[in-house]
Amino acid sequence: MTAVTVKLTVNGREVELSLEPHERLVDVLRGRLGLTGTKMGCGEGECGACTVIMDGQAVLSCLMLAVQAEGGDILTIEGLAPDGSEAGLHPLQKAFVAEAAIQCGYCTPGMILTAKTLLERDPDPTPQVVKEAIAGNICRCTGYDKPVKAILAAAAEMRAAAQGTTAAATVTAAAIGAPEAVAVPGNVSTTTVAERGES
Ligand code: FES
Ligand code: FES
Repeated sequence: MTAVTVKLTVNGREVELSLEPHERLVDVLRGRLGLTGTKMGCGEGECGACTVIMDGQAVLSCLMLAVQAEGGDILTIEGLAPDGSEAGLHPLQKAFVAEAAIQCGYCTPGMILTAKTLLERDPDPTPQVVKEAIAGNICRCTGYDKPVKAILAAAAEMRAAAQGTTAAATVTAAAIGAPEAVAVPGNVSTTTVAERGES
């Protein structure tokens, strides 16, 4: 089959690739660019593990041919913390670690990127809106309470940062159907989500 040239911007870097027309975006990101934070799950558009952001929209990279992404501006989980430092983690990444919203971590990159697009269009979502937003990101481990809590905590952190305040966010567990209130610290030091995403 004749190779085609595809130009993309991936995590702020312009790349030009010679590809077979049938190559999926998920395979190009993982196999050709080494961005293994993007996970391959069902391959059928059902699980959300392969979610990346293209031109500001969350997309399923298993359902997209790389040639369809020609000219696109793609963000993968690695692009959220490009310097690889803990301090440079995105508030969503910090919140997922702080809330222990990660177990095996396979769903985490896609869920965080989906949440990022949610918070860009709705900086102050209700728990129900968060649940609906991540409905396409299947998690076999967490039961969803902690990811929802983490997304709400990150939203509060981001709103505080936008207002120039440093107040810790408090997410009421009752708001997401859990029994206790949980205080969310402003700073968290721990292992990186990026590390989780590279297995
Ligand atoms: S791997 Fe793409 S939706 Fe499951
Ligand atoms: S943490 Fe294991 S699938 Fe979500």
